[in-house]
Amino acid sequence: MQITVTTRDGTPHQVEASTGLSLMQNIRNAGVEELEAICGGSLSCATCHVYVDSLPARAELSPRSADEEDLLDACDDLAENSRLSCQVVFDPALDGMRVTIAPES
Ligand code: FES
Repeated sequence: MQITVTTRDGTPHQVEASTGLSLMQNIRNAGVEELEAICGGSLSCATCHVYVDSLPARAELSPRSADEEDLLDACDDLAENSRLSCQVVFDPALDGMRVTIAPES
């Protein structure tokens, strides 16, 4: 399974993805260090902010939690498709999804 991750310079990267890991963990495991994820997924840094560009047909993301919303609200570059990638658990339905790493806040 794969995720296409576009880094801030506009380069797309094909990243191998594993079920049960967060989007953040999958991206970091692939060596994309631009996604800093400083807090390690404990929902306190927002340095794992990505834009979800597209999902496979019929795939859906779990909704943002109130805590995720609060942290995203503090981001300068919040968009409709913003997510904190540590809060999205990858599953097979998401195979082929595309995300872009948000600018540094
Ligand atoms: S890694 Fe810190 S909020 Fe996601």
